[in-house]
Amino acid sequence: MRELPRPFLKWAGGKARLLPALSSRLPGEFGTYYEPFLGGGALFFHLVARRGPQAAVLSDINSDLVDTYLGVRDEVDHVVDCLREHADRHRRDYYYKMRGEEMEGQGLAPRAARIIYLNRTCYNGLYRQSRSGRFNVPMGRYRNPTICDEPLLRAASAALAAVELICAPFHKVARRAVAGDLVYMDPPYIPVSVTASFTSYHREGFNEEDQCQLARLFKELAAARVHVLLSNSDTEMVHEIYAGLPCDEVKVARSINSRASRRGGVGELIFRGGPLFS
Ligand SMILES: C[S@@+](CC[C@H](N)C(=O)[O-])C[C@H]1O[C@@H](n2cnc3c(N)ncnc32)[C@H](O)[C@@H]1O
Repeated sequence: MRELPRPFLKWAGGKARLLPALSSRLPGEFGTYYEPFLGGGALFFHLVARRGPQAAVLSDINSDLVDTYLGVRDEVDHVVDCLREHADRHRRDYYYKMRGEEMEGQGLAPRAARIIYLNRTCYNGLYRQSRSGRFNVPMGRYRNPTICDEPLLRAASAALAAVELICAPFHKVARRAVAGDLVYMDPPYIPVSVTASFTSYHREGFNEEDQCQLARLFKELAAARVHVLLSNSDTEMVHEIYAGLPCDEVKVARSINSRASRRGGVGELIFRGGPLFS
């Protein structure tokens, strides 16, 4: 049986656990699907697995991430070959050699394979950059990590075949949506507490002004009859900036916190806007 598409990267804040709640809130029909905080793309792959090929525009501010998707979409054979080599050579010193490797001038496939290799072998699948923009996550402690999951990569490549992939801040891409399209926004969450915060996916972070700009965009899109779904943490600030909008509280288990004792269920909010909800 052919493998169904699902995320090929582990991504902090990945939405696998929230999928049933998101899925049950999707409109029956919509035009183009937009996911402007792509990360691992859990909802996109879920949609394709459930409903088949999907006209979609997927974007993220992280250029390494978007280039990795482009590599998997356009050069999956070469990505698989490079990953086989990484799998053969994987050891502690090899991990750190690849982590420090300067990839400028190299093709899409070797760059994509390097990110997938690091993602599958680094600590907790985190993506974190230093101030100078270098990936700086230490090696994880996996006994036998699956570095080259060929069927999964091929399924993801097929799902992405007709998809537009863009590296850009959310507002530049989501604004392109028109009435009847669906936009799913999954921004870096407003931290529940300082210690629970994990918003450093990108060296520029995502601050309160970004959250407010996103809330304004959500309302503009909903007013333009675009279907909009948005997830965020159950915090006072989130309630404040989305006040008055239809919202559901959902409890999900999270695993991004490095302290096992803090990995318990946390409250998340799902906001809905647009033709079905006005
Ligand atoms: C919570 S993650 C998305 C997780 C994704 N839904 C999944 O299923 O894996 C947030 C993503 O937003 C991206 N991001 C951060 N700031 C951004 C911005 N200003 N514009 C677009 N993307 C941004 C990060 O690079 C990260 O991939």
